[in-house]
Amino acid sequence: MYPLRRNRRLRASQAIRSLVQETTLSPNDFQAPLFVVEGKNIKDEISSMPGYYRFSLDLLVEEVKLIWSLGIKSVLLFVKVEQNLKDNKGTEAINPDGLMQRAVKTVKDAIPEMLVMTDVALDPYSIFGHDGIVEKGKILNDASVDVLSQMALSHAQAGADFVAPSDMMDGRILSIREALEHEGFYDTGIMSYSAKYASAFYGPFRDALDSAPVDTKDIPKDKKTYQMDIANRTEAIRETQMDIDEGADIVMVKPGLCYLDIVRDLKNTFDVPIAVYQVSGEYAMIKAAAQRGWLDENAVILEQSMAIKRAGADLISSYYSKDVARLISDL
Ligand code: PBG
Repeated sequence: MYPLRRNRRLRASQAIRSLVQETTLSPNDFQAPLFVVEGKNIKDEISSMPGYYRFSLDLLVEEVKLIWSLGIKSVLLFVKVEQNLKDNKGTEAINPDGLMQRAVKTVKDAIPEMLVMTDVALDPYSIFGHDGIVEKGKILNDASVDVLSQMALSHAQAGADFVAPSDMMDGRILSIREALEHEGFYDTGIMSYSAKYASAFYGPFRDALDSAPVDTKDIPKDKKTYQMDIANRTEAIRETQMDIDEGADIVMVKPGLCYLDIVRDLKNTFDVPIAVYQVSGEYAMIKAAAQRGWLDENAVILEQSMAIKRAGADLISSYYSKDVARLISDL
C-alpha cells in the first residue's frame, strides 16, 4: 500500500492526533477511594502508599471538597477499625453508629451531590483478617452473606448511594439486593467486585487498614478459597454473569493493569458499566519507581489510565484519581 498509505500522516501534529484520538479521559471517569480512621485532626500517611492518607472524619470533609473541586464525582469509602471492635461475626460492621456509617453521613453532609459508595466486606472488622466468618479453618459462605447483607443495608440506611461488595462470597449480590428491596432501598445501587482476583497487589491496602489475614495455625493465610484464581479467564465471565443476574448495576475487575484482558472480555460480553480498580500495589509500584527517578510518574499514570479505559473500563477507581484529574485539566 505504501506510499498510498502513510500512517504517520495521522500522527504529524497534536491537532491531528487529537482529532483522531480514540480514547479520552475525563475526571468523570474517576472514583477516589478514601481511608477513614477514628479520631480528630488525623491525616496519617500510609507507609507503603506514599502520598496517600487515612483521614479522621473532620479532615475527611476537606479532602472530599478538594476531590469534588477537581471534578471527581464519586468516592469509595473504607474504614480502619480499632482492634478492640474486631470479632469473628462482623458485629461492628452493622453498628448504625459505626465509623463507616458516620463517614457516609459526613461526606453526604459536606457534598450532597457526591456519589458515595461503601466497601462491603468483613476483613477490616475481622480478628482473622478474612472477608467472611471463619470456622474450623474455613471461610463460611452463607453465614457471611447474611452479615454482608445487613452491613449493606446499614450503609444504605446511613445514606450510601451504592454499596460495593468486595468479599467474593457466592450469592451475596442477590441477598444484598433482596435486603435492600425489602427495606425500600430501591434506588441504592450495587457495584459488585465481580472479577476479583486473589492478587498479591493488595498488600499496601492491608497495611492501610491493618486487615491482612492473620498468620496463625489453622487459619488460611490467603484468600484463595474465595477470591479468583489468577490463572482463570472464563471464570471471570461466569462470576460476572451471575452477579449481573443477581442484580449488580456495575461490575468490576480488580486489579487493573494485569487484568486488562479480562476487562476486554467483559466489555465484549456484557452491556452493564464496567469498573476497574487500580489497586494499592499498582499505586505503590509506580510511586516507588517515580521516587527513585526511574519513571515519569505523570506520564505513567496518564498512560495506565488510558490503557484501562481503552481496554473497556467505564470508570476507574484509583489512588491516582486526583492527580489524573489535575493533569487532564492542565492539558
Ligand atoms: C476488602 C478489599 C480489599 C481491597 C478492596 N477491598 C483487600 C482484599 O481483598 O484483601 C483491595 C484494594 C487495594 O489493594 O487497593 N475486601
